Amino acid sequence: MKQIKKAVIPAAGFGTRFLPATKATPKEMLPIVDTPTIQYIVEEALASGIEELLIISGHGKRAIEDHFDSAPTLESVLEKKGKFDLLEKVRSTADINIYYIRQRYMRGLGDAILCAKAFMGDDPFAILLGDDVVYHPQRPALRQLIDIYEQTGGASVLGCQIVPDEKVSSYGIVSGDMTDNERLMRVNDMVEKPSIEDAPSRMAVLGRYIVTPTIFPLLEQTKPGKGGEIQLTDALRVLASQEPVFAYNFEGERYDLGDKLGFLRATVEFALRRDDLGDPFRDYLRELIPKL
Ligand code: G1P
Repeated sequence: MKQIKKAVIPAAGFGTRFLPATKATPKEMLPIVDTPTIQYIVEEALASGIEELLIISGHGKRAIEDHFDSAPTLESVLEKKGKFDLLEKVRSTADINIYYIRQRYMRGLGDAILCAKAFMGDDPFAILLGDDVVYHPQRPALRQLIDIYEQTGGASVLGCQIVPDEKVSSYGIVSGDMTDNERLMRVNDMVEKPSIEDAPSRMAVLGRYIVTPTIFPLLEQTKPGKGGEIQLTDALRVLASQEPVFAYNFEGERYDLGDKLGFLRATVEFALRRDDLGDPFRDYLRELIPKL
């Protein structure tokens, strides 16, 4: 069984739900408190044992590359001013081994993942979607999936959680048979963004995947599906009919950054968890509550 050392982060989308903020700024660079959302994703990948990261970039996304690059002028100014804590923060994002490729046309998530084919070669790999940020104090969501990958002897694993009825039409929904592990399901079918009537369960895929390289020929054969886009879900469905695919109900607080309310929740809760901001921000919220 090969180890999971490579990951891909698709980041080519327009981010239309956050216009006008995303007109000239990649949505992945919008901050939760003071840190771009994509940095949380990259840090989760590294904390899970990933060593080589590929970001699927696109038009107007250069700020992402600049963010994960050195910044010599800024670094020397911070050094001269003795702002070593900030210097450390600026440098920390420059040390990571990140590769980039551009998705030239927006043909959907499946097509974006197909851009990773040459980079992944014959290796199984992880996929992390930037709209899903997961907080877990000890075990990053991706690490949990990699552990399951290893326990199952190298099967594909989809990171899932149960969502409420009104949310099933926003996600890929899986169905299958539960295993001895009450968090682990063997997938036998899945459907992209079904109506509530058509949803086979409430188990939604939430932006974390481990897949075998068999996914690439399947993606190449996948025709446009929901929304006229090449859907990763459609290729995974075929994969599940050919080899074992598991859905793991991962632990952790997950925030939907594709949604404005989800973004606000993330901002408030990440701020509350911060050593430097938590207490004064909590005091402010207490003052605010009676005025609501
Ligand atoms: C994508 C996937 C969907 C998955 C979701 C998780 O949809 O197509 O299956 O459940 O991410 O966030 P998107 O939100 O990019 O439309």
